Amino acid sequence: PLVSSLELIKKAKEKKVAIAAFNIHNLETIQAVIEGASEERAPVIIQTTPGTLKHAGIEYIGVIVKKAADMYNIPVALHVDHCPSFNTIVQCIKNNYTSVMIDGANLEYEENVKLVKRVTDMAHAVGIQVEGEIGRIGGVEDDMFVNSDEAALTIPSEAKKFVEDTGIDTLAIAIGTAHGMYKGEPKLDFDRLSAIEAIVDVPLVLHGASGVPDDSIKEAIKRGIAKINIATELKNPMAEAIAGTFAKNKDENDPRNYMGAAREAVKEVVKKKIRLCGSSGLA
Ligand code: 13P
Ligand code: ZN
Ligand code: NA
Repeated sequence: PLVSSLELIKKAKEKKVAIAAFNIHNLETIQAVIEGASEERAPVIIQTTPGTLKHAGIEYIGVIVKKAADMYNIPVALHVDHCPSFNTIVQCIKNNYTSVMIDGANLEYEENVKLVKRVTDMAHAVGIQVEGEIGRIGGVEDDMFVNSDEAALTIPSEAKKFVEDTGIDTLAIAIGTAHGMYKGEPKLDFDRLSAIEAIVDVPLVLHGASGVPDDSIKEAIKRGIAKINIATELKNPMAEAIAGTFAKNKDENDPRNYMGAAREAVKEVVKKKIRLCGSSGLA
């Protein structure tokens, strides 16, 4: 069934594990996530960026994910990721979303707080939880591009103030990860993570998990990360499986073949990431 994301994240935090949150784009990737999570008996978060809502249609995503969540006996939250718009968030909530991220990271602090608080007040009034972000995560996600000069690590005291000023339920922090894959090996600032965790009362979220070595993910969870966002590492196997199908047969024209191969490839990564997060068997 569809449930609140905070409920899942809090339970994970108590058990010192994390909930995997996967960015999906279409029917097959929804199926890959839900089947993978179900086989792992893991609670899971399915999320879409505003770009995906535009591509696939908010109404379609809302009913497909709700149906999928009802068909499988695991808790599923439906979350909008990196949404800069109050109105889009209202539309999401009207279409079965149980969790939202308001992203005002490109705004000045005061403007950011104003936007995030407005969303939080509205969402809480209808029982929906809100993820906010402070600091600036680098890389490319959807149509946002943040280069390394603009990226900024989260300052612990500012994180504490931001949570208090806005009333958000979970906090995405910048500790050295970036959206997309990495050129070298990403170095996570674990001391910063622990300093934030020590003074911030809400569960913490790690974005940009694709390309981060497994032992860094594990260390981050140990130090208090309770939700892990994964996008690129699902996009890559999907593209590779489709390309592989056409490499074998350039005249392939059956979507059930190339999309079927994509779904299987994505599902394998979903299961692997859930095991890495430690949330198998938690459902
Ligand atoms: P990656 O593409 O690096 O997995 O980042 C995912 C993310 O943070 C989605 O919000
Ligand atoms: Zn992100
Ligand atoms: Na990444």
